[in-house]
Parts: sequence; structure tokens; C-alpha cells
Amino acid sequence: MASGNSPLAGRHILLGITGSIAAYKAAMLCRLLKTAGADVRVVMTPLAKQFITPLTMATLSKNPILVEFFDPENGAWNSHVALGEWADCLLIAPATANTLAKMATGVADNLLLTTYLSARCPVAVAPAMDLDMYAHAATQQNLRTLAARGVRIIEPAEGELASGLTGKGRMAEPETIAAFVGGLLDEKKKTLEGKRLIVTAGATIEAIDPVRFISNHSSGKMGYAIAGELAARGAAVTLVSGRTALETPVGVERVDVLSAAEMYEASTAAFDGADGAVMCAAVADYTPAEVAERKLKKGDGEMTLTLRRTRDIAAELGARKGKRVLVGFALETHDEEAHAEAKLERKHFDFIVLNSLRDAGAGFRGDTNKVTFIDRTGREELPLLSKREVAARIADRIEQIMERSGEKHDADTAPAQSRKS
Ligand code: PMT
Repeated sequence: MASGNSPLAGRHILLGITGSIAAYKAAMLCRLLKTAGADVRVVMTPLAKQFITPLTMATLSKNPILVEFFDPENGAWNSHVALGEWADCLLIAPATANTLAKMATGVADNLLLTTYLSARCPVAVAPAMDLDMYAHAATQQNLRTLAARGVRIIEPAEGELASGLTGKGRMAEPETIAAFVGGLLDEKKKTLEGKRLIVTAGATIEAIDPVRFISNHSSGKMGYAIAGELAARGAAVTLVSGRTALETPVGVERVDVLSAAEMYEASTAAFDGADGAVMCAAVADYTPAEVAERKLKKGDGEMTLTLRRTRDIAAELGARKGKRVLVGFALETHDEEAHAEAKLERKHFDFIVLNSLRDAGAGFRGDTNKVTFIDRTGREELPLLSKREVAARIADRIEQIMERSGEKHDADTAPAQSRKS
């Protein structure tokens, strides 16, 4: 891989090496990354030193190797936070079953693991182990946990293993790993760097009494996918989230709320310094007029609950919007387009994402959605996609709107002379 146009050129790769026989391949991997123009620093676990010498890795990376939390000679501190901030990508190759398990459970007993916990950059792991260890339910569960948190797994290959057995568990070849990391960094071009965006997600909860509440079926998956995608493109994202079981996407600042009123406060406060917002939450339109202080007791007859309107967060942000980008959602069950178009206008959205409960695989809870984008120039109907893919399409549109408004701003502020030419 030649440098120059390589997505690795000039990028900071933090290479983590753990105690596996495949550590010998880390030397070749380091060379490939360096040849492609990357700046490589190496963190080794103590056991990794038994498999490849720090001298080899220091010579190839042209940087001192880090193993301990501090240098025993002079007490100099190896800051895991600084390492995490320096890295554009943390690549752990080889990654043993032991290190994967520790990563999945948050154990922080060496410099590599503390660096992983502090890193805000993309993280990739190249597992290497015996076939039975790789196939074990615990290892597979750990890999799924890490993948769900955004860690990219570079699949091991099938082949002859150090144990003499043959099967899946052999670390991917250095060329494959270097290409994977190149793709990862290319994919994560920071196209929204410097932008501050708000995403609302999940369901709100309106208390009736200390025991009961009114809510809806939103899981937060769609909004969390959007927050993760925008953060991966470099935006500073504030995720205003109703109650969900989901993990916060990497690099996202999360503000937990319960009720529509709390979501209103958190979203309007964050909007002041923001460049835009995506309103994906399923917000209650009505809340009990009074919340009983004690559990309501049942009587013989019917019970009537008086509800009052909540404040419309999206409409409020729409009224204050100015040049900011505002994206809305419409969840409909009938007359979909007419309802969505009315919301587009009423709430001053730049575009609205329509999903209908009449479409299989769309809407609440699942991992897929089927959406139509509607703006003032027309509509774009997308096929059934993963929520991640839908999030990427929404992020593409946000970028386009920001680009256009930047171009317009440049044209408006250009000197009269150059505007004519
Ligand atoms: O969370 P998931 O399980 O992944 O499900 C995703 C989803 C179905 C919740 C999502 O795709 C979606 O459609 N979200 C919006 C649901 C909704 O409440 O739509 P609405 O048509 O009622 O509201 C229109 C718009 O106004 C929305 O952008 C909504 O966030 C916003 N709104 C509504 C009421 C209110 N008081 N304040 C608001 O900001």
C-alpha cells in the first residue's frame, strides 16, 4: 500500500499487541502501516513481550514501546488518556480471548485496557486464538458485546493454528488488517467536524401516580443510530434520551430525561449553541393534568384521567431555527404523506423522515426501518434498510444542507466585484 493517497497517510494508529503467538505478525503489520504513511505507536501487554520483543516493535514503529503505566527508571507517567486522544484508530492485533473478555467487561488492569476505555476513536480488533476458544459461547458473546458498542471485528481466518489443529481462529493476515483499518478511516472522514448537533431519542414517560405512567413503544434504536453516525462523522452530539436499555454510542454526550417536559428543557437548552437537531424521540402529546402523590386506588366505577397538552419541542426549535438544520420524524398509521407534509410546514423542518406502521419492518423496536424523506422539493422513498443505514442517509442529507447553506453564505458575503464575475 503506497502512502500519498492512502487513507492511512498521516493518520495516528495506536497498535495494541497482546500475548498471542500471532504477535509475530504485528511486526509486518506495523511495517505496512508505516509504509502507507501512518504514524504508529505501540502499546503491548506485559505478556506480549514474551512473544515479540519491544526492540523489534520500537525499531519498526520508530517510537518507544509502551507497556507499563509508568517508566520504572524515571517514574514518567504513560497517560492512557493522552494516548487515546492522540489515536485516530486503536487497532488491537492480535487480540486474545483474555483481552477481548476484559474489554467487554471493562477490566482495566494494564495500559492497553485503560487506553481502550479512554479512547474516543474507532477501535478495531483482530482476534487470534485456538478454534475452540474462538467458538466458545463466552468469546462469541464478548465479540457481540464489543460489536454492539461499535468495536470493529476483523474476522479471523480458517487455517493451521499454533496448537496444530486446523480451524477458525488464525489472525487475519497483516495485509487484510491494514486494508481494513484504511477502509475504516476512509469511512470515518470527519465531514461534520466542528458541528454541534442534538438528537432526541426514545420514549417519554408521563407519570400518573408513583406507580403508573403513559408512554409508547419507542426503544431509542433509531435515534441512537443517528447519534452514533453523526458522532462518527466528527460532530459533537448531545443525545437527549428517554429511558432505554441501549448503550450510549461512542463519542456521544447523553442527557437522560423522563418526561416530555424534561425533554423540552434539555433540548431547548442545548439548541442555543447547536448547528442543528434531529427530532427522533416519540414524545407524549398529552400528560396527566395532575400527578397523584400516592398510588391511585381502584373504585367500583370507571375512572377518567384529565390530560393536558405537552409543549411541542420540535415546533419550539423550528420557531427559533434561523439557519440551523432541523430534521423531524413522522410516525403515521394512515394518510401518511399528508400528515408528514403538514408537520414539515408546521414545525419548520428542513426535511421530515416519514415511517409508517403499515410497512413491515418499519417503526418501533426492530433493527430496520422503511422511510421516506420529504422536503419542499419532493420525496425520496428508501427501501427497507437497517436503522444504521437509515441514519447514514439522514447524515448525508444533513451534510448536503449544511454545504448548501455554507455556499449560500459565501456567495452572500463575497465582495460585489467577485460576485459579478
Ligand atoms: O425508537 P425506535 O424503537 O427505534 O423507533 C423509532 C421511531 C418509530 C420512534 C422513530 O422512527 C420515529 O418515528 N420517531 C418520531 C415518533 C413521533 O412521535 O412522531 P410524531 O409524528 O408524533 O411527531 C412529529 C415530530 O415532532 C417528531 O420529530 C417528534 O420527535 C416531534 N415532537 C412531537 C411531539 C412533541 N411534543 N415534541 C416533539 O418534538
